[in-house]
Amino acid sequence: MDNPQIRQTKDGSHTLWLPELEESYHSIHGAVTESKWVFIENGLDYFCQITGNKEVNILEVGFGTGLNALMTCNYSQVKKQRIKYSTLEPFPLATELTKQLNYTDCLDHPQVEFWFQELHMINWGQIEWLNPYFSILKTHERIQEHTAPGQYDICYFDAFAPGKQPEIWDIGVLETVKRGLRRPGMLVTYCAQGQFKRNLMQLGFMVEALPGPPGKKEMTRATIDS
Ligand SMILES: C[S@@+](CC[C@H](N)C(=O)[O-])C[C@H]1O[C@@H](n2cnc3c(N)ncnc32)[C@H](O)[C@@H]1O
Repeated sequence: MDNPQIRQTKDGSHTLWLPELEESYHSIHGAVTESKWVFIENGLDYFCQITGNKEVNILEVGFGTGLNALMTCNYSQVKKQRIKYSTLEPFPLATELTKQLNYTDCLDHPQVEFWFQELHMINWGQIEWLNPYFSILKTHERIQEHTAPGQYDICYFDAFAPGKQPEIWDIGVLETVKRGLRRPGMLVTYCAQGQFKRNLMQLGFMVEALPGPPGKKEMTRATIDS
């Protein structure tokens, strides 16, 4: 991904803008607000409440800036919820760039600076613990090549939009995600595209269109029980 530029979104948090793709990593209406609403509140927190699972295994498609990982690490510490976080990223960002992102100003936990630094400094392909409840494995890999049957409870599907990266929203990739999920399993994403939701239904997911974060009418949560 060429030459990402830092941009401020409406809630004051940063995102990255890719001029060639004409795409940003997050909603311009608020990067932290979007991450919290889509992945934490309507994904992780909802899942924990309905299942009561002592440990939750998460697969993230697209580590990028590490914002979702940071928000999840913060959740694990605050809620004392054990989380195993696996994240895929074929195009890791330069540390000089991620150091300039202002996400640690947007969370008020005393460990947040340490967590964000560690998220970017830890080695790829090695499991690391960031607090007593949160471990992370960053893998330098595309979702298309990922094979880990029945390992995850939740997939944070945070790829670039279907208009920019259509191949990743394909039913074949969603089948890979389905294989990776235990039961009950869940996929959450900011995306609400019709074909994407029909693909999920075809694969046996129960699809919910939920109110989206600011600037977006809807988001998608898909669950699978069998
Ligand atoms: C919309 S950004 C979101 C990134 C991240 N979740 C964040 O909060 O910064 C999409 C991410 O997906 C990554 N990506 C692109 N192709 C991918 C693929 N085939 N498999 C997994 N991730 C991919 C991009 O490099 C980028 O980091």
